[in-house]
Amino acid sequence: MRVAVFAGDGIGSEVTAEAVRVLEALDLLKLELVYGDVGGVAYRKHGHPLPAETLEIARSCGAVLFGAVGDFSCDHLERHLRPEQAILGLRKELGLFANLRPATVFKGLEDLTTLRPEVAEKIDLLIVRELNGDVYFGEKGIRTLDDGRRQGWDMMSYAEDEVRRIAHTGFKAAMGRRRKLCSVDKANVLETSQLWRDVVIEVAKEYPEVELSHMYVDNAAMQLVKNPGQFDVIVTGNLFGDILSDQASMCVGSIGLLASASLAEGTFGLYEPIHGSAPDIAGKGLANPMATILSAAMLLRHSYGLEVQAARIEAAVGRALADGIRGGDLGGQAGTKEIGDAVLARL
Ligand code: NAD
Ligand code: IPM
Ligand code: MN
Repeated sequence: MRVAVFAGDGIGSEVTAEAVRVLEALDLLKLELVYGDVGGVAYRKHGHPLPAETLEIARSCGAVLFGAVGDFSCDHLERHLRPEQAILGLRKELGLFANLRPATVFKGLEDLTTLRPEVAEKIDLLIVRELNGDVYFGEKGIRTLDDGRRQGWDMMSYAEDEVRRIAHTGFKAAMGRRRKLCSVDKANVLETSQLWRDVVIEVAKEYPEVELSHMYVDNAAMQLVKNPGQFDVIVTGNLFGDILSDQASMCVGSIGLLASASLAEGTFGLYEPIHGSAPDIAGKGLANPMATILSAAMLLRHSYGLEVQAARIEAAVGRALADGIRGGDLGGQAGTKEIGDAVLARL
């Protein structure tokens, strides 16, 4: 079990430290952790946010535990040198096309979400976000037009094979859950979305037991706060999935709770909280590490088949929350290490 740990910037090192403590407490005999630099930290040390040696470490491992990247002091750099390129580069280079972002309300948090408790308590959804295409990876630039005006542009596109493979991920996930798949797009305006919808409908023929629906992304954003209980699995593109998953996090209480798995074909995966480096609270020991701890659980389950240990971690987080352990993101006082201690004590 060779696992890479890339902590990155801001709260990244604080939250991954707690997840590592949890992994180590499980006494997984063959666990070997290999550390590497990513993001602004890596740029300052090696001149690049994703140094070749970091990519090599990832390739030599069965899974990656990732913290966060992003550092406002790097925002003036050319885009290919910015910290965020580390996570985008890892996703692309390692073929991590399927991003699973589950959202459920933990017991005891029903009153802490920004929705009414009776609306929030019904949430049990999984966002399946495509991670290797869309406007994220198209050609882009800022150019000067003939009349002297500057124009920013980003090419949005999806090829049918890219849509097909993420559609399969969505349908398979739905088969293991409540068999409902909602494909979110903007087919009323975007040709990229029209192709997306056409291909999802084609793939649906292979999954007759799954009830497929389609929703425009603006409506989906509204429905997520109106009646999130209607969703089982949502499958969507890279940009819409990014936005909707941050929104889903508040529907269940906090962005400090949402874990994610970014998967390639096979068992390899990268696991990270959906949040970023949170520069506003970095270095203060205030970040909630639960999203990263829950990402470590996803790592054990998806990359190593360790269902029992994954469930133990999830149960320990659930019990800590049920016992009233609350980070600042949930209106409480517990700091990063204290939350880590609370989870460890319940493991
Ligand atoms: P963010 O997710 O870092 O923070 C948004 C808000 O949520 C902040 O108020 C922050 O304090 C809070 N928050 C986030 N995680 C928290 C946690 N675990 N506990 C408590 N509070 C938490 O988003 P942002 O402010 O838009 O971005 C900051 C930087 O992070 C940017 O450079 C951005 O590009 C980067 N980013 C990186 C990733 C990633 O590495 N995958 C994801 C999102 C954003
Ligand atoms: C996420 C982040 C990243 C994304 C950024 C940091 C590139 O917001 O993982 O959700 O947009 O995918
Ligand atoms: Mn995001």
